[in-house]
Amino acid sequence: MKTAVVTGGASGIGLGIAQRLRSDGLHVATVDLNPSDDEFAYRADVSDPEEVTAALTAARAALGPVTVLVNAAGVDGFKRFQNISFPEWQRVIEVNLHGVFHTVQAVLPDMLAAGWGRIVNISSSSTHSGQPFMSHYVAAKSAVNGLTKSLALELGPSGITVNAVPPGFIDTPMLRRSEEARRLGGTVEDHIQRTPVRRVGRPEDIAAACAFLISEEAGYITGQILGVNGGRNT
Ligand SMILES: NC(=O)c1ccc[n+]([C@@H]2O[C@H](COP(=O)([O-])OP(=O)(O)OC[C@H]3O[C@@H](n4cnc5c(N)ncnc54)[C@H](O)[C@@H]3O)[C@@H](O)[C@H]2O)c1
Repeated sequence: MKTAVVTGGASGIGLGIAQRLRSDGLHVATVDLNPSDDEFAYRADVSDPEEVTAALTAARAALGPVTVLVNAAGVDGFKRFQNISFPEWQRVIEVNLHGVFHTVQAVLPDMLAAGWGRIVNISSSSTHSGQPFMSHYVAAKSAVNGLTKSLALELGPSGITVNAVPPGFIDTPMLRRSEEARRLGGTVEDHIQRTPVRRVGRPEDIAAACAFLISEEAGYITGQILGVNGGRNT
């Protein structure tokens, strides 16, 4: 049985991915700043390499070598560019980009030893076209897409695939917080009318893409950015 680590697994998209992988028969450990009460839920700030290493060590001891990693932990930000302080800029980059650096570094020894691995990075559909007032977030998520492509080239010969899934408009606490703060330019319902498939996305939609990308049969797919957005971005 394979062991997967899902960051951000206590809420929204990460939670949906953890539930799906568990029901597909994997051992799943979640790593989150605010962990759930699940047995294999570990607390760590993904931007802190020591906390990430400690969480991964505990997960490995409980569930065995980690050969599947899904990076879903993330924070958004919404501010006019000239008003973003440097610490605010740094925090968004540290969590969304450096967090991926730390977790990949922490799991790579297991994947290299196994000669097999699957990494999926959850980026954002905002990377397709940019997003006003989210320059730090879009910069970080665009870097995650670039990192994904480079890692795919480096790690392919070791049996490890690396792909990114940029979600668009998924009904999670993050999206509802944005709606409440009136950052969406309308309600979720308004946006549904502008979405080709006429519904909001669900964590299960992202989980389905991840379940495929980590499967054995997706072994020839690497370095790809697989948009899951109801046709909002093509
Ligand atoms: N919901 C959407 O429409 C949407 C769109 C594009 C991208 N995304 C991305 O999908 C991912 C999941 O988002 P979501 O909508 O489920 O949000 P969410 O806020 O519901 O869940 C994010 C989770 O990440 C955790 N987290 C935040 N900072 C962390 C840190 N420093 N260390 C560890 N864990 C941390 C939170 O505690 C939370 O459990 C994020 O990377 C987000 O940027 C979401």
